[in-house]
Amino acid sequence: MIPGMPGTTRDLLSDIETFLAEFGVSPTKFGLAAINDGHLVKNLRGGASVTLRTADKVRAYMAEQRSPSLAHDGLESAVPPRRLLLIIGGGIAAYKCLELIRRLRERQVMVRAVMTQAACQFITPLCVGALTGERVSNELFDLNQEHDIGHVRLAREAALIVVAPATADLLAKMAGGHADDLASAVLMATDKPVLVAPAMNPRMWLNPATQRNVALLHADGVHFVGPEVGEMAERGEAGLGRMAEVPQLLAAIEPLLREADGATDTPREWGAGAAPGLAMAGRRVLVTAGPTHEPIDPVRYIANRSSGKQGAAIAQHARALGAQVTLVLGPAHIPDPEGVEVVRVETAREMLAAAEAALPADVAIFAAAVADWRVASQAHDKIKKGGKALPRLELIENPDILKTIASARPGMRPPLVIGFAAETQNVLEYAKAKRRAKGADWIVANDVSPQTGIMGGDRNTVHLITAEGVESWPELDKDEVARRLMERAAERLAAITAAT
Ligand code: C5P
Repeated sequence: MIPGMPGTTRDLLSDIETFLAEFGVSPTKFGLAAINDGHLVKNLRGGASVTLRTADKVRAYMAEQRSPSLAHDGLESAVPPRRLLLIIGGGIAAYKCLELIRRLRERQVMVRAVMTQAACQFITPLCVGALTGERVSNELFDLNQEHDIGHVRLAREAALIVVAPATADLLAKMAGGHADDLASAVLMATDKPVLVAPAMNPRMWLNPATQRNVALLHADGVHFVGPEVGEMAERGEAGLGRMAEVPQLLAAIEPLLREADGATDTPREWGAGAAPGLAMAGRRVLVTAGPTHEPIDPVRYIANRSSGKQGAAIAQHARALGAQVTLVLGPAHIPDPEGVEVVRVETAREMLAAAEAALPADVAIFAAAVADWRVASQAHDKIKKGGKALPRLELIENPDILKTIASARPGMRPPLVIGFAAETQNVLEYAKAKRRAKGADWIVANDVSPQTGIMGGDRNTVHLITAEGVESWPELDKDEVARRLMERAAERLAAITAAT
């Protein structure tokens, strides 16, 4: 360390040196990625000082790289990174790309971005660069970028190219084979799969020119996600032209990345045609999800706030891994996951019957928030108010579906039984006790106290409790919790099969 170096610089350099050793990156690469200055570390080591603003940016970069939501959380370090090139077009839907980048990075996907000139009017390259952790490219003839990462290299290094939002103009350029800006030049130079997410005014989408271009691109093998029907950014405009939402984009990206990784395609129909290369091909998976409604009289019922989203995401991911999936779903306002057999039920007793009917299964996941109690005798007619005394509800216990199936006779008990534990206090302690009491192999525990927003929300912080111990996962969206859980389940099943 240089004597007399200012404190901020000295501390920063020391942080950087630790980071370089930890991540094994070169000082030049680090400087470029952190603040686009390949000489940063050399200058600091030579005694140069930095402004507080630069120090903040460098620290933010290191924090982002170390973020528990990224690959370095130790959970999936064995998974090789996959690289995706995101071409951001000029439309209001460009803002969705920010969320998309975050969700992709959570999934260990490295994202490099190219922005069109028009895209820079809607979101800034600075913001996109901060989220991707990489310099954003936007000029075809930028000397630095062409020298550093030219359009051919951008095209070559990606496993998949995603164009979002794909404007009418971008689609026209693609269909016509133009290459007069970086985005279109990359698209011309690539031999990798391309997924486009169109977004435009409904009249532009329906314009015969756009439809001609779309037909040409389909014929060229370009993949499409959306557009969707919905409201436009323009006041009072609605129709077909909204860009697909982030979960749909992720659902379209995942199988294409998988294919690019060399795995077989995600099967469209389950059963006979299931892809043999997938980790759950040939497996049967049972999932319970959603609340149950326990009738009091013909119009009233006991219920809870479960949305069914977590269980539906699990079913979807088991399906994406090639399993034959039955989802027993309580009354929830969510669409049927594609390719999954959905049995909609109302009460806990119906849920138990449907779950038993779905056996045998290789894995059973009980994500439903089953009502613990039901009224002892349901009234045939609506209970009237105004009687002498207030009505009294006598409650009796509902069957415990998880416990029943976990203790099924050998041959009927699924080899891997996974329960959920939603607690508002002493989460780990209660969950560990629950694993034993219910006979489950694993318990996925989470804190559902109202301030967490988990019930009905899109994100979840869970702990996986197994016979070996507790694994705490970072905060993730429910879809990612589902993906990780099903990948773990596939691994466990493979180990069980190998041992028998
Ligand atoms: O007992 P508790 O409701 O906390 O247990 C939660 C776990 O048990 C969840 O996996 C849930 O789906 C399952 N369960 C069940 N049948 C019940 C109650 C809970 O399958 N009647």
